[in-house]
Amino acid sequence: MCGIVGFVGKKACADILVKALKRLEYRGYDSAGIAVFEGDSLKTVKAKGKIDEGLVRKLSEETPLTATAGIGHTRWATHGEPSDINSHPIGNGRISIVHNGIIENYRKIKEFLISKGYVFESETDTETVAKLLDYYYKGDPMEAIVKTAAEIEGSFALGIIFKDFKNTIFAIRRESPLIVGKGEGESFIASDVTAILDHTKDYYLLEHNEIARLDENGARFFDFNGNVIEKALHTADWDLDAAEKGGYKFFMLKEIHEQPEAIRKTITPRISDGMPDLSECGLTPEKLRGYKNIFVVACGTAMHAGLVGKYVVERIGRIPVTVEVASEFRYRNPIVSPDDLVILVSQSGETADTHAALTLAKDMGAETLAIVNAKGSKIARDADMVIYTHAGPELAVASTKAYMVQLAVFYLFAFELAWARNAISEEKCRSLVKGLEEMPALIEKVLEKPDSSQFAASKLVAAENLLYIGRGLDYALSMEGSLKLKEVSYIHSESYAAGELKHGTISLITEGMPVISVATQTDVFDKTVSNIKEVKTRGAYNIVVARESRQPGSDAADFIITVPETDDILMPMLAVVPLQLIAYYTGDLKGNDVDKPRNLAKSVTVE
Ligand code: AGP
Ligand code: GLU
Repeated sequence: MCGIVGFVGKKACADILVKALKRLEYRGYDSAGIAVFEGDSLKTVKAKGKIDEGLVRKLSEETPLTATAGIGHTRWATHGEPSDINSHPIGNGRISIVHNGIIENYRKIKEFLISKGYVFESETDTETVAKLLDYYYKGDPMEAIVKTAAEIEGSFALGIIFKDFKNTIFAIRRESPLIVGKGEGESFIASDVTAILDHTKDYYLLEHNEIARLDENGARFFDFNGNVIEKALHTADWDLDAAEKGGYKFFMLKEIHEQPEAIRKTITPRISDGMPDLSECGLTPEKLRGYKNIFVVACGTAMHAGLVGKYVVERIGRIPVTVEVASEFRYRNPIVSPDDLVILVSQSGETADTHAALTLAKDMGAETLAIVNAKGSKIARDADMVIYTHAGPELAVASTKAYMVQLAVFYLFAFELAWARNAISEEKCRSLVKGLEEMPALIEKVLEKPDSSQFAASKLVAAENLLYIGRGLDYALSMEGSLKLKEVSYIHSESYAAGELKHGTISLITEGMPVISVATQTDVFDKTVSNIKEVKTRGAYNIVVARESRQPGSDAADFIITVPETDDILMPMLAVVPLQLIAYYTGDLKGNDVDKPRNLAKSVTVE
C-alpha cells in the first residue's frame, strides 16, 4: 500500500519529499526514506518508524542535502518486517527505487539473480526489482525498465532513479496507483494528489504499463516501444485546507464533524424536484426494474455500509440483496448472472479485493456500479457505472465520513429503485427524500452534544472486551460501531444480533462488562429491550443508543445516549454518530494515535 513520491525541480528537494511523504503517511508508516542526486552520487537516507521518528531524525543528523531531485517512500510492509534494511528506497550505488505493491513472482526472480551472482540484503520483494533493473541496465534506462516490467508479475508503482541520469526520475505502474504532478518548472510523482497539493493541483494519471520520464524540462510519457504518449492534464478540486486538521486534535474527529457537509454535497446533485435522480451515472428506471438480484461487494466499513443498504433496499424495494466481503466473493465462484447488478463500494477506489470482485462480476456478465470517493481511481474507472460520494479527502485510517456518504448513496439508490419498481408510492418516496435532506441538520444537533459519548467512552477505557447488540438496521449499524472501536481503541469487541445472544454468546457476559445496544427501530424496540435486560441481569453495564421519544427504562439501561427523531429507515445515519464518537474518545483517552492505528493502512492495495 505505501506512499511514493518524487520531485525534480530547482529547489532543494529533501524537505519537499519529506513533506509530501507526510501527506501520504496514512497509506503506510512502518518506515520511510528518500534517495536523492547528491553531487555525482545517489544518497539514501531511510529509517524504521514513522516519518518524524525515523527519517526526519536521521536527516537532522546529516549534513543538509542540496539535491534538487529525488524519490521517497513511506512503507506498509508486505514482505519483510519493518526495519531500516527493508525500508525503501532500495538499490545500489547506481540505481535506486521506491515501490508500492507486491511482486508475486519475486522468489523466481530472486533465484535467477542469485544464480547470476547477486547478493540480497533485504527480505523485500522490492529488492528483486532493483536488482533486475541493475541486471538489464546497460546504459539505457528505458530498455532496462521495459525488460524488467516484462518479467515482474503482481502490482507495482515504481519510482526509479539512475546515477548516470542526473536529476531524472522514471516511473511506471501496473495496478498500484501513481500520478505525475506538473508544477512551474518542477515535476512530481506521487501515489495520490494530496501529496503534492502544496505545489500544484495539475496532474496526469499514469496508466498501466506507461512509463513517465521527469526531468528539469517537465514530464514525458512513453509506451513500451518508446513511442511518446500524449496525456490529458487533470486539475484536483481538493485544496490543501481540506486536507488539514482545521483545529481538531485528530483528522478522525474533524472528519466526523464534516459529515453534514459531505451528505449535502453528495445528495444535492442527485435530487431533482424532491425525487431521487441517479440518471447521471446511467441508472435508468428501466434498468432498475430489470435487475433480478443485487450484490454488494466491499471490504470493512464500506461493506458495513452495504449491509445497511441491504436492509433498506430489501425493506422498501423488495429485491434480494446479498452483501459479501470482497476477499470471499472473489474466490468462491459466486452465482451471478447477466440480469444482476453488482455494487462495489470503496472509499479509496483502490482496494485490491474489491477491484478483483469487480473484474469477476464483469466477467460473469453482470452490470457493475461503483460507489467510490476517490475520483479517477481504479474501481471508479473500471466499473460500468459510478456514483461518486463527495466526502473529500478522508485521511484518518478509520473511515467515518466516507461511510456516512456511502449510506446516503444507498438511500438514494433504494428510494429510486423502490419507486421505479412500484414498491413505494410517489408520496412515500418524496417523504423519504425529504427525511434524507433533513439529515445534515439533525447530525449537527448530535455533534453539538458530544458529552454523552465522551462519558460512555470513559466507561470503556478499562474494558478488555465488550459487545455491541441490536436488531435489524440497528444490528447492521452496530457492526460498524464495533469495527470502529476495535480499530482505534484496540479493545476487543463483537457485534451480535441481539436475539442471537442467548444461543451462546451471552456466556461471555461478566460483572461490569460493557454492552453497547442500539435500539432505535420501533418495530423491534420491545424485543431489543428484553435482550438488553437479559444481559443486565447477568451483570452487564448497558450503554444504549435510542431515539428521544422511545427510551428503555432504568431496569434495562445504565446510560442512554439519545438521537433526534427521524424515519426508522434513516436512523442509522443518526445513530452511527455517537458510535463513531465513542470509538474516537475511547482511542484518544487511551492515548492512541487515533488517525494511524497500529497495523492498519488507509488504502489496502494488496490481498
Ligand atoms: C475503515 O475504518 C477501515 N480502515 C477499512 O475497513 C476500510 O473501510 C476497508 O479497507 C475498505 O476500504 P475502501 O473503502 O477504501 O475500499
Ligand atoms: N512489497 C513492498 C515491501 O514490502 C512494498 C510494500 C508497500 O506497498 O508499502 O516492501
